[in-house]
Formats: sequence, C-alpha cells, structure tokens
Amino acid sequence: MSGGIGAGEGLAGTRVLVTGASGRIGRVTTALLNDCGARVTALSANEEPALEAERVLVGDTRSEADVADALQEVEAVVHLAALAHRDIDTPYNVYTTNVVSTFNVLAQAGAAGIRRAVVASSINAYGVPMNHHEVTPAYYPLDSDIPVDIDDWYSLSKYNDEQTARMAWRHWGIDVVSLRFPYVNDADAIRQHSERLTADPAVGVREGWSYLDSRDAARALALGITAEFTGAHRLFIAADSTCVPYPTADLLNAFAADTPKTKAFIGREVPIDLSAVRALLGFRAEHEIEVAEMPLPPHLA
Ligand SMILES: NC(=O)c1ccc[n+]([C@@H]2O[C@H](COP(=O)([O-])OP(=O)(O)OC[C@H]3O[C@@H](n4cnc5c(N)ncnc54)[C@H](O)[C@@H]3O)[C@@H](O)[C@H]2O)c1
Repeated sequence: MSGGIGAGEGLAGTRVLVTGASGRIGRVTTALLNDCGARVTALSANEEPALEAERVLVGDTRSEADVADALQEVEAVVHLAALAHRDIDTPYNVYTTNVVSTFNVLAQAGAAGIRRAVVASSINAYGVPMNHHEVTPAYYPLDSDIPVDIDDWYSLSKYNDEQTARMAWRHWGIDVVSLRFPYVNDADAIRQHSERLTADPAVGVREGWSYLDSRDAARALALGITAEFTGAHRLFIAADSTCVPYPTADLLNAFAADTPKTKAFIGREVPIDLSAVRALLGFRAEHEIEVAEMPLPPHLA
C-alpha cells in the first residue's frame, strides 16, 4: 500500500513497536507506518514473511523478556496483540493473554519513558454486544460513557485493558488512546458482513450496524501516535454510515423501540457518537462500502 495519512504526517523516523503486527489489522497498520517513514518493530506470536518492518520479532507479549527486547529504542507503541475473539481459545487463555499482554506492554513502555501508546480496544468493551441476556444499549448513539454490562471474558479483557491504559497514564504519564473498534476487515469481507446484516438486521442492533475498513483502522492507529493530546482516552470509532441499506431511525424503531435516543439520525448515519474520535485524532473514515438506501422491509422488522 502507499500514501500518507493526512494529519498523521510526522511519523518519519519515529520508532514504533507494533504488537500483533502479523494480524488482520496489524499487517495493514505495519505497512502504513512503514510507508509513512516510521521505523517499525513488529512483534507477533507467529511469523508473517510479508511484513514490512525494520525489526520483525516472533515472541510473546505476555513475556517480560520478549517485550523488553521489542521495546528497545522505541518511541511509541501500537498494541494490537490479543486473542481477538471470545471463542478462539479457553476463557482462561483469552482473558489472561489479553490482560497480561496489555499490562506487560503498557507497564514496560511507561517505565521506559515512552510517551505514547495506541491500544486496540473493542466495541465489546461495553459488554452488551456479546451479552447472552436480552439486553440493549442504555441509549443511542453509543458513546464512551455508555453503561457497561459484561457477561463474557473477551469483553471483560477489553474493558480491563482500558483501565490498564488509564493506570499506566496515571502512574507513568504515558498518553494512551484505546480505540473501541467495531467489526474491522477488508472491503470484500465487509461487503459479506453487510449482506448478512441486510438479510437479518436484528443481529446488528447492539453494535449499531457499524464497521470499519482495515485501512481506516490503520490510519486511526497512526493518527493515535501523532495527534496532540495528553491523558488516557477510550473512543468509539466506525465508518460514518452503517453497513445496511435501511434508515437508522427505522432500524432503531424496529429493534430498539424502548431504548432512549439522544439525537435524531439522518439516513444511514451510524448510531455511534464519533465526535470524540474526530476531536482527539482528527479521524474520519475514508473507505465506506456503497449501499443504496431503501426502506426496511416489513417482514424483517
Ligand atoms: N478485527 C476486528 O474486527 C476487531 C474488532 C475489535 C477489536 N479488535 C482488536 O484489534 C486487535 C487486532 O485484531 P485482529 O483482527 O488484527 O486480530 P488477529 O487475530 O488477526 O491478530 C492478532 C495478532 O495478535 C498476535 N498475538 C496474539 N497473541 C499473542 C501473544 N501472546 N504474543 C504476541 N502476539 C500475539 C497474533 O500473532 C496476531 O499478530 C485485537 O486486539 C482485537 O481484539 C479487532
């Protein structure tokens, strides 16, 4: 891939550790940072021969020694390494891998005097999307103050990671932004995701039918390194529009009629408050799938 990141220029020569570099988001992010002139150290659990990075390491983000080695001379961290789904391994392994990795990476980065980290949180950090009870969000649009209701270990790990980020900032002064990613993938996979939710829109209600192209996720992560801010922040992020053809107001009337709405939604506007990610990072998604708006068919409502 090629091209800059707009507001994120300023990466040239910056030494960045990307954990989880071999993953779906990590590969695109590593390539973007490399294209922007960053000097990337890539750390992953598995080999990925195509990675473009100055240092490519295979190691474990739970290991103090592996992370200490990876952080040598690093100025900023993009932390993506995780077991990225509830059912990918045992509950114990998913939870402990994620929270120990995030603690280890941020604590060592903070103690080493590194000033900036960007962390992959998840839309699941508020607990409702994977909750097996009949729950809906407390209100729409979702924002970073939305009440949390967690009943699974992956969501808990992401929620805890956000607390770890805050602790690291309070203790060591490392500025951290945790991005609450929605479904992230390449354009083909997002189109398939869109087709699934178009056929069965009820399943998208807790995530507000949101998505983000991997290229936009990578750009947001890069902006997280270069944007001017201090503190620890957790931010929802998504494409501006939903991935389904139906008007958001109709969807919410059909599938979340009793849930308060704090604003009116225009067209296919995603019911997630994106003002914070715009204000802090100057981010707006650039890769949206083309979906022609149509009324919600009565048989799907
Ligand atoms: N893709 C999505 O839809 C999505 C949505 C929300 C949040 N996220 C989060 O974004 C991050 C990246 O997701 P992804 O889709 O690229 O995941 P992925 O499964 O494609 O990649 C995970 C990466 O983490 C690495 N990793 C896992 N355990 C490790 C360990 N113990 N030590 C070192 N490396 C380890 C893997 O080697 C791989 O590089 C994750 O934190 C995930 O929870 C992803």
